Amino acid sequence: MQKNAALVLAAGKGTRMHSDKPKVLQSLLGEPMLACVLEALRPVFAQDVWIVVGHKAEMVRAAFPDARFVSQEQQLGTGHALMQALPALEQAGCTHVLVVNGDTPLLSEGVVRRFLAESAGQDLAFAAIELDDPGAYGRVVRHADGSIAIVEAKEYDPSLHGPVSREVNAGMYFLSLPAVKALLPRLTNDNRSGEYYITDLVALAVAEGLAVSGVRCGGDQNLLGVNSPRELAQAEEMLRRRIVDDLLEKGVMIHAPEQVRVGPLARVEPGAELSGPCEICGKTEIARGTSVASHCIVCDCVLAAGAQIRPFSHLEGASVGGEALVGPYARLRPGAVLEEQSRVGNFVELKKAHLGRGAKANHLAYLGDTVVGEKANIGAGTITCNYDGRHKYQTKIGREAFIGSNTALVAPVCVGDEALVGAGSVVTKDVPSGDLAIARSRQKNLPRKKG
Ligand code: UD1
Ligand code: CA
Repeated sequence: MQKNAALVLAAGKGTRMHSDKPKVLQSLLGEPMLACVLEALRPVFAQDVWIVVGHKAEMVRAAFPDARFVSQEQQLGTGHALMQALPALEQAGCTHVLVVNGDTPLLSEGVVRRFLAESAGQDLAFAAIELDDPGAYGRVVRHADGSIAIVEAKEYDPSLHGPVSREVNAGMYFLSLPAVKALLPRLTNDNRSGEYYITDLVALAVAEGLAVSGVRCGGDQNLLGVNSPRELAQAEEMLRRRIVDDLLEKGVMIHAPEQVRVGPLARVEPGAELSGPCEICGKTEIARGTSVASHCIVCDCVLAAGAQIRPFSHLEGASVGGEALVGPYARLRPGAVLEEQSRVGNFVELKKAHLGRGAKANHLAYLGDTVVGEKANIGAGTITCNYDGRHKYQTKIGREAFIGSNTALVAPVCVGDEALVGAGSVVTKDVPSGDLAIARSRQKNLPRKKG
């Protein structure tokens, strides 16, 4: 019985990135390159996806705690990476493996499925694309007798291999493990890089008389590799356009679409409205009838139907209920929860703060570690003093309470339901439900000295 697995090669350093981060953790639209690759593979292979890690492996493992890894202690080349993974794949009962470079973030489920379909029955297949400039890609050489090879750019010698064609190796392979296993020990590092090239398997397989195919994928941009900051920027822009196009196609309303950035893990329902420039990233979910105005950043948030996010608001890890209003110029930090029809206005910051249904904090406030009851009103300049330099404390504000402007609520403290706090108060003691608390010095009016 055939059992397919996927193997992502992600152990390389990415020298041409000039970065301390492993290349596969460089981000596109807020997600690491590797997340984009996994997103394309998961629907096809479910849990049968392995990642070869080596350079700064701990960072990569930490970024994908649920993934399955194989370690390549020394990065001796892509062929060597495959050798390291073989035991794990065999142990899992896999008979065939789709190998893909971890630096191809534009890969999509559709491309993977098409390639698998085209590779069926082959012992070894690889995706071949055509580029105007073959750059540093491995060159595909098709011989007159129908046989095929990949020659790395560094090794290419026109006098030996013939004139350069535009056809290159995209870095995605489909291998029958029983067929290819015997070839692996025959790979050598006798080449200009001193590395074991996975691409040398092609000529070895041809020589063995195995079924080998260079699957023609035309000018498929979804298979471009990312090796430099410039290529990363180009790939990010292509991914951005693809996602925005898909959303428009599905029925999301998008103003200034060329300035809208939506991450690959974000979900936006048809009937939602986005205005550029804006950025929607992480695992954000935006329901129909919701609008996000220009100059907003929304990351890892859930926005329920009919929520309105007004311009220049910054939301991270927040949940915004139906028909709630946020901004302009609001900041919702992780743990901010706005129930239906609540409102957070300009220059209001919320962190781990829960606003009940219809509650309002419309101007200039900081609410941290706070629970606010429904229909309460938080006056301009209200600050919860939730941190004493060592610990964080909770503030509770009851239903329909009214907090006067410029109040400091020194946590831990509770303001009861329907209580009223006078403007300018420093509240250090609980306020019973229905009471009026005034905690400020009395005004004195004295004769003014002249002269
Ligand atoms: C590779 C191919 C080339 C192809 C191109 C497509 C080889 C020898 N060449 O070249 O034919 O046109 O991809 O993009 O494979 N990696 C490891 N372990 C290693 C070395 C690399 O896991 O020891 C990983 C890297 O992290 C990377 C991937 O393999 O994700 C490809 O390596 P890279 O150095 O980028 O290969 P290219 O030079 O781009
Ligand atoms: Ca590459």
